[in-house]
Amino acid sequence: MTPSLSAVVDLDVPGPVISRHLYGHFAEHLGRCIYGGFWVGEDSDVPNEGGIRRDVVESLRAIRIPNLRWPGGCFADEYHWQDGIGPREQRPRMVNTHWGDVEENNHFGTHEFMALCELLETEPYISANVGSGSVKETSDWVEYLTRAGDSPMARLRGQNGHPEPWDVRFFGIGNEPWGCGGNLRAEQFAPLARQHATYARNHGERPLYRIAAGAADGDYHWTETLMKQVTTGLGDRNPRELFQAISFHYYTMSGAWSDKGSATEFSRDEYWTTVRRAQHVRELIAGHAAVMDAYDPTKKIGLALDEWGTWWNVEPGTNPGFLYQQNTMRDALVAAVHFDAFHDHADRLRLANIAQTVNVLQAMVLTDGTRMVLTPTYHAFEMSSAHHDARALRVHPVGAVPTREVDGVEVPTVSTTASTTDGRVTVSAANLDPDAPATLELGLRGCRAGDAHGRVLVADDVAAHNTAAAPDVVAPQEYDGARLDGGRLTLDLPPAAFVTVSLGLA
Ligand code: AHR
Repeated sequence: MTPSLSAVVDLDVPGPVISRHLYGHFAEHLGRCIYGGFWVGEDSDVPNEGGIRRDVVESLRAIRIPNLRWPGGCFADEYHWQDGIGPREQRPRMVNTHWGDVEENNHFGTHEFMALCELLETEPYISANVGSGSVKETSDWVEYLTRAGDSPMARLRGQNGHPEPWDVRFFGIGNEPWGCGGNLRAEQFAPLARQHATYARNHGERPLYRIAAGAADGDYHWTETLMKQVTTGLGDRNPRELFQAISFHYYTMSGAWSDKGSATEFSRDEYWTTVRRAQHVRELIAGHAAVMDAYDPTKKIGLALDEWGTWWNVEPGTNPGFLYQQNTMRDALVAAVHFDAFHDHADRLRLANIAQTVNVLQAMVLTDGTRMVLTPTYHAFEMSSAHHDARALRVHPVGAVPTREVDGVEVPTVSTTASTTDGRVTVSAANLDPDAPATLELGLRGCRAGDAHGRVLVADDVAAHNTAAAPDVVAPQEYDGARLDGGRLTLDLPPAAFVTVSLGLA
């Protein structure tokens, strides 16, 4: 019998807004993400706009990426922003000690990043250097970016060709301070973060949204320590003056850190372990949110998962420090599982960034010289864009949820979510089982749904992926598996498929 999930959705009980910033992205000076991925330089054979690849920009505009985090990652904590301004040929060079130990020529700096964000029509998310930088560097960078009129940093920006300030809101305070960002304990980082956040002043009309670097995985002690520091010792001042959000990072892999598993060659056991670990993100978000609730019950401080995604062994023959990996239908399903968990916690989770956008980890696009390929994960993002800024609709399972035992844990094999905006409802559903079809039966309550049309992302093999020679092996197709019968929507889900259906409300 086909496994089936029955559930009901109250269409007239919209929940919190699913911020479009939950679909954020991340670009680090790592491998070929910036150099070769986004930036090719003005003299390149690759068609470019002021040195920035046109094909990459056009593809990313199509998925409406809402924000882009830069310059790291670990790199952010050894980046001195003043090295990346002024005439390119005169910019100092440095060694990128975290990623491949290669020389960084600083040709892609603040002005180039802001130009990229303008082309992408996305909001910048800048990460300040707390690990090896100074409070003054943080303070000056914010002034350089956002202050209008006449001031030392505003003048310097003008001399470098951009008299007007930029509109920068998202500002990260450090990155993984418990590891590459300084090997600090939470108790050491918290006062440092307060100091940097204090001098990250509001210069422009729009206040900064300061995001304190947070925990690894389920380190709830880290979150609690930061929450204490955010909410105490500020006298009469509003704690939100200091931090507006706290982050955490979580990556999915099928193996151990030392052997994370292949991106394209994996057994069924490895596949299911991947699903189990991807689903763990739900528990982690709930865990961090619960700690935050104790200190901030009205949910003023946001939670930001500003690094997530799959992390596999690098493609054979590539630089181990460059984190270049292929991307299969499995990666798209991992993304779907994350989106569903994000929507269910949209009341606290305000921002998330997949790692990373181009050529690194779970990328949207892979480039090779002048060629570019869209990944299955790209398509999962594109198909989910109707959820941006929509109101979450809670999906209530009725009866037994189809599951499978994986590593001693019962893992749901169908993942689903729904949202509503502008008189339409979007339902997304993933059948995580690569060997059997599934059915989703949704009772729609509260409103009458009219037309239903959708698309499906599916492949013969869950390891299927796109290459320059075969770029459309995994690509969305029209979906004919939706049946709307009065107040009931039935979706027939092929094995290992991701479906998005749009319903008009009568
Ligand atoms: O995304 C790759 C790396 O993963 C980032 O630089 C770091 O923050 C994390 O450990």
